[in-house]
Amino acid sequence: MSIALIESITQEVEACRACVLCESALRAVPGEGPADAAVMLIGEAPGAAEDRSGRPFVGASGRLLDTLLRRAGLERSGVYIANVVKHRPPDNRDPTPAEIHACQPFLRRQIAAIDPQVIVPLGRHAAKYWIPTIQIALHHGRVFRVDGRLVIPMFHPAAALYQRRNLPLLEADFAQLGVYLRDGFPAQS
Ligand code: URA
Repeated sequence: MSIALIESITQEVEACRACVLCESALRAVPGEGPADAAVMLIGEAPGAAEDRSGRPFVGASGRLLDTLLRRAGLERSGVYIANVVKHRPPDNRDPTPAEIHACQPFLRRQIAAIDPQVIVPLGRHAAKYWIPTIQIALHHGRVFRVDGRLVIPMFHPAAALYQRRNLPLLEADFAQLGVYLRDGFPAQS
């Protein structure tokens, strides 16, 4: 854990011109949270509200995320929140493979610096970073072990807002995360 390291990655993200997204975005959204967070949440890319504020998950998805975190016994201020891609794609389109590739070193370095025990990728696009063959409808809430970390993919909060049938599944996954954090994670199967 190193606050100075996280700060220097944040500054590099803010200055980044490695892909076209910086041309249309208002500002970068590097990520935020304690440099020693045990839990890291990773979204796909900033939306309009995040683009305006420079902070991750502050729009409608973010408000839902705050509620979900409390279900897990967590506060936003206690977790690190970042995105796979640090600038908003125009019209909220999916980031291209080239944009994801250009941004990857930042996420890799953020994870190395924070060294979280648990990573929660939110949505299929984020989860593919760790589990390329992920089927989120099938694998959400499952504990994967990747590079010595626990990776628990979950639905993206926006997917739960648009498709309400996903909401109870997402709530249950966050509640279960709280149980794991309190009582311990399942042994490797
Ligand atoms: N959706 C994301 O994936 N990330 C954000 O920061 C906001 C919405």
